[in-house]
Amino acid sequence: MTFLQPKIRLVLATDLKDILEISRHVWEGYDYLPFVIEAWLKDSNCYTYATEVNGHVVGIGNMRLVEKGRTGWLEGLRIHPNYRGKGLARAITEHIIKQSQRLHVERLRYTTGSENQASLKLAEKTGFVRILEMGVFWHPNPNDVPLPRNYPPIEISSPEKIFELTQETPELNSHGILIYDWKALDNTLEGFVQVGKSNEFYISLRKGKLDSYSFGRLRSESKESMWGFTIYANQNDGFISHLSHQITLASRNQQKAIMCIYETKFEKALHDVEWQSKEHWDMHLVLVEKTMP
Ligand SMILES: CC(C)(COP(=O)(O)OP(=O)(O)OC[C@H]1O[C@@H](n2cnc3c(N)ncnc32)[C@H](O)[C@@H]1OP(=O)(O)O)[C@@H](O)C(=O)NCCC(=O)NCCS
Repeated sequence: MTFLQPKIRLVLATDLKDILEISRHVWEGYDYLPFVIEAWLKDSNCYTYATEVNGHVVGIGNMRLVEKGRTGWLEGLRIHPNYRGKGLARAITEHIIKQSQRLHVERLRYTTGSENQASLKLAEKTGFVRILEMGVFWHPNPNDVPLPRNYPPIEISSPEKIFELTQETPELNSHGILIYDWKALDNTLEGFVQVGKSNEFYISLRKGKLDSYSFGRLRSESKESMWGFTIYANQNDGFISHLSHQITLASRNQQKAIMCIYETKFEKALHDVEWQSKEHWDMHLVLVEKTMP
């Protein structure tokens, strides 16, 4: 493997053409980067770095300060296919790690797919550890899923109420981290409020205690929009009820496709659903973290 000595610097508006060229090759053109890059450049919480070889940007990576600057959220790491395997992603990540120390960030986090060997290897090499794993399920056109009988009703909720309820039921989210839309925030009031800026919350109570909850939103940062949601539940009946509810919300929002993030303990329940169309995919999402010295 040839290691390149790249120049790493902040991204400029004039780099957009090169960045779109990198993005074109990612996830068969379904990359979200073109939909967010201009907002990143205007966002004072974002530190977006480019790696330049022979005058062209061939790699990019963003760190967003979240949780009042305590966490550096890493996202959008991309290397042009012609330049992969040459240590560029590692160089950009190490650069971000150094910058994050300057900014007194306490920890860095990112999510990646469990099959993304390069990204997982990179995490290992740069001192990140695995925190948790969740399932991710996509369906382009799911049928209605019948509500389980005798399950308590699903009600709309607020970040404040749901935060209060989750404090009494820590078993519902054992890691204390909310996973939404491939992102993560601690299960704090601030975290719920942040998620609530773009998501609607739904809860079900049993004997006055929180039994299950979900939150979802329209995801439009891709060539094709979809309804994306996360479900946390005690048991299968709560999980299936929220799945059914979120699929109804998807169609109310004129969305055919869904992306469901769920706890892996519901993998079997999800696969036992009699989907009319077999055309669906799933994988695991892995959250990794590096604690700064
Ligand atoms: C993931 C990605 C950024 C890696 O970029 P890269 O410049 O090729 O990575 P590096 O050369 O710095 O390699 C980092 C480590 O991963 C390993 N690696 C790289 N590609 C690999 C692959 N395809 N399979 C297994 N390991 C791989 C390298 O060997 C290296 O480990 P080492 O130091 O032990 O040799 C690049 O593949 C990419 O842009 N992929 C598409 C977008 C994506 O998946 N982004 C990450 C989303 S979280």
